[in-house]
Amino acid sequence: MESFAHRHLLDIEGLTRAEVERILDTAEAFFEVSRRPVRKVPTLRGKTIINLFYEASTRTRTSFELAGKRLSADVINMNVSASSVEKGETLQDTCRTLEAMHPDVVVMRHGTSGAPNYVASKIDCSVINAGDGMHAHPTQALLDAFTIRKRKGAIDNLVVTICGDIAHSRVARSNAHLLKLFGCEVRVVGPRTLLPPAVDSMGVRVYDRLDEALEGADVVMVLRIQRERLEGALLPSLREYARTFGLGPKSLALAKPDAIVMHPGPMNRGVEIESVVADSDRSVVLDQVEAGVAVRMALLYLLAGDTAESPAIGESG
Ligand code: CP
Repeated sequence: MESFAHRHLLDIEGLTRAEVERILDTAEAFFEVSRRPVRKVPTLRGKTIINLFYEASTRTRTSFELAGKRLSADVINMNVSASSVEKGETLQDTCRTLEAMHPDVVVMRHGTSGAPNYVASKIDCSVINAGDGMHAHPTQALLDAFTIRKRKGAIDNLVVTICGDIAHSRVARSNAHLLKLFGCEVRVVGPRTLLPPAVDSMGVRVYDRLDEALEGADVVMVLRIQRERLEGALLPSLREYARTFGLGPKSLALAKPDAIVMHPGPMNRGVEIESVVADSDRSVVLDQVEAGVAVRMALLYLLAGDTAESPAIGESG
């Protein structure tokens, strides 16, 4: 088998459609490992993965940890709030310190756009971007693509509506890049104050009204209102937002009858999505979480494993 052409995964730009498909196909091979009674394979035995999260995370951090452990790697979770970062250690010194311990992969989330790129330029191992500022969240886009492909059979030429806080969303940006590789019609909708100034350069269709954006959609991707990144008067009120842009059954009825509803989590129930939709059989929110483990197993394997051979997915001895 060919080796994977990339040392790092920093964003979706730079990946070809064939590379995305390879990641998804590899994730498909790993998917059933998490459903076995013994959820462990020997693929990355002897490899070391460090999770370095400078921002809060439930899904991404836990699924990277599970992915590494299910591949038999040694996984270290650095608790930044209990580390020397709190004593003023610079990112560069933290990187050099970690490098001296010879990890194979550093998985990094940071509030500053570009921080994982900086680390990748300073450290002699693979770096995976687990979300940086408002820039990119490539593993989220890949797990979303995996979920869409599993539910819809294919990603090609689907109409995907992304609703909400586009301006602050690394998830929207990474998804738009990936979906365009598959010829999808990507629509974005939200208050003008929550659309990025350069939205036209994203190659998406921009809508002001939720009902118009949802008409005929195959996939509805609802984004979290990022209260922690909203400054002052970008929104009149959460109640007004929920009334105008919150996804409820009435607006969802405008999408295709078999449209699926996605949300990267965590959800603000009653704000961007009503519980009756989030918990309905149209919702694939928990499928996305399950896909996250398989996709992250695939990425760890492709970046740190011996890809000259097929992944060893027999049970660990
Ligand atoms: N989707 C996502 O990145 O969730 P977490 O912040 O919980 O990792």
